[in-house]
Amino acid sequence: MANQPVLSVLFVCLGNICRSPTAQGVFERKVVERGLADRIQVDSAGTAAFHVGARPDPRSVAAAKLRGYDLSRLKARHALAEDFFRFDYVLGLDQSNLDNLRALEPPESRAKLGLLLDFAPHTGMREVPDPYYGGPKGFDRVLDLVEVAADGLLNEIERELLG
Ligand code: 4NP
Repeated sequence: MANQPVLSVLFVCLGNICRSPTAQGVFERKVVERGLADRIQVDSAGTAAFHVGARPDPRSVAAAKLRGYDLSRLKARHALAEDFFRFDYVLGLDQSNLDNLRALEPPESRAKLGLLLDFAPHTGMREVPDPYYGGPKGFDRVLDLVEVAADGLLNEIERELLG
């Protein structure tokens, strides 16, 4: 429907090839499943520029595909100061991502800056561990944590949009 408020979410990790594209793909699908695709915009970025322009890591793509998420069309980009004016939520996947984002955040920013796992307190985890240098289990663990947190985040956003 026209003129309804839209909320936007940016997921941020280090390289934007493993964790944050996974979060983007999972969250986008949940948004579609809840019928909110025209009310919520989703993107991801990395605080480091090493992989800018690259597709997600093939290990992330493969693990996500097994659960029905398609990450293959995504491309890494660098997080920018202007993202704080373009997105309502800017969510780091781990504490060092959050520290990097705090250093980038303009003083006038009104974005909600935090950790994705703030929305999954019952997991007992605050950070999504970096799977890049580990084995395949790490990529599944990313999906486990991200799926739970995506539901928690979507519950909050739904309350905000509908309330
Ligand atoms: P991400 O994982 O931050 O989840 O995308 C990483 C990707 C690349 C590197 C480290 C972490 N790297 O050192 O190249």
